Amino acid sequence: MNITVINGTEKRGVTYKLKEIFLERFKTNSEITEYYLPKDCPNFCNGCASCCLKGEQTCKDYSYVQSIEKSLLQADLIIMTSPAYVMHVSGAMKTLLDHLAYRWIPHRPAANMFGKRAVVITQCVGAGAKSTAKDIKHSLSWWGISKIGIFTGTLMDDIVWDNLSEKRRNKLSKQILQLSDKFSKINYKKPAHTKILTKIKFGFCRLMQKKSYKINPEYTDAQYWHHQGWLDKNRPWHKTK
Ligand SMILES: Cc1cc2nc3c(=O)[nH]c(=O)nc-3n(C[C@H](O)[C@H](O)[C@H](O)COP(=O)(O)O)c2cc1C
Repeated sequence: MNITVINGTEKRGVTYKLKEIFLERFKTNSEITEYYLPKDCPNFCNGCASCCLKGEQTCKDYSYVQSIEKSLLQADLIIMTSPAYVMHVSGAMKTLLDHLAYRWIPHRPAANMFGKRAVVITQCVGAGAKSTAKDIKHSLSWWGISKIGIFTGTLMDDIVWDNLSEKRRNKLSKQILQLSDKFSKINYKKPAHTKILTKIKFGFCRLMQKKSYKINPEYTDAQYWHHQGWLDKNRPWHKTK
């Protein structure tokens, strides 16, 4: 199986350590591709909205975003990680999420995202891991993914793995191994079930795109929905990976 990991920091710290523990049992049977932010997507979105309005290839950072996106679309399992920085994702991770706004359901979601699984790994010293995970989950679910596993760790006594008490390290390791175990038992040949909430969100956006297509059939998003057959009977969860 293919796994794509987006590391929200280049630091080989606690977030990295937890991600490595999660991956341990996948290493023998998986092709793992890793991206490190900000190195692999270094520039902020400048808000031109050209990706949404004219097409993603018009983005000034197309080469970076395209490479990551291609890998995400080939992945059976997507892993996204970030430490909590002032209660939210790292700026580097936020930059990537902004660049992928055009893949949200109201714009041009990728059909095969609807059958994928994803895992979010976040941690903090005292507070903020949950809100950080929520930042990432928000994008993943609006990309169309229904099956999302969440790990949120709290370090408490230090920010360096080796300085944590043995009890704390064992607790964090046990928690992440439980999640890893759960995701290792999935049959990735079968697409994940699409949640009813995702279908409802898709339904509302479909009505919006139908209206847009009537007004202007050249409109980038509406044209995309038309070509996917989503303005007719086809749905992304009918032909997922
Ligand atoms: C800029 C910055 C902001 C942080 N903000 C928070 C925070 O809001 N809450 C918290 O509990 N920890 C915070 N931390 C600690 C990190 O979430 C994390 O526990 C620490 O960086 C160790 O993880 P790492 O080795 O993967 O970087 C912050 C760290 C940095 C560098």
